[in-house]
Amino acid sequence: MILLAGDLSGKKVVDLGCGTGRILRLARKNGAKQVQGYDFDLLGRVFCAIYPIPCTKKDFFTADLTNFDVIFTYLFPEIMKRVEKELWEPLPAGKILISHQFPLPNIKPDEIWQKGIFKIYKYIKP
Ligand SMILES: C[S@@+](CC[C@H](N)C(=O)[O-])C[C@H]1O[C@@H](n2cnc3c(N)ncnc32)[C@H](O)[C@@H]1O
Repeated sequence: MILLAGDLSGKKVVDLGCGTGRILRLARKNGAKQVQGYDFDLLGRVFCAIYPIPCTKKDFFTADLTNFDVIFTYLFPEIMKRVEKELWEPLPAGKILISHQFPLPNIKPDEIWQKGIFKIYKYIKP
């Protein structure tokens, strides 16, 4: 996922439903200037606190994403429908979305990485 995102140097990165913060930890190692996660899950937030990765207990549908350059997701299809409509569509050009396993349902990805049953989708906002 991190490699597909491209050069993260100086970028602001968010993981919608960040779980333990593993993706954001890698993003930071790869040069991200700012990382932010949102998740409800208590156990995930405990791991984030250990690393430490900023993870806010919040429904990410209420978050303002306009400041972030790169968005990571690993969310079920029903949620991706909402992500597409409510979060991705209003964003300005140039934003990048990297989704593990589940695509945005109505938008053709710019790139797909696949290994066995694993798929990662990359979108660049036109
Ligand atoms: C499959 S896990 C992915 C975790 C992490 N992104 C990763 O790749 O390791 C999905 C996470 O999204 C969180 N989640 C789902 N819907 C959410 C919402 N609306 N707001 C905040 N977190 C949400 C869940 O609590 C869960 O931890």
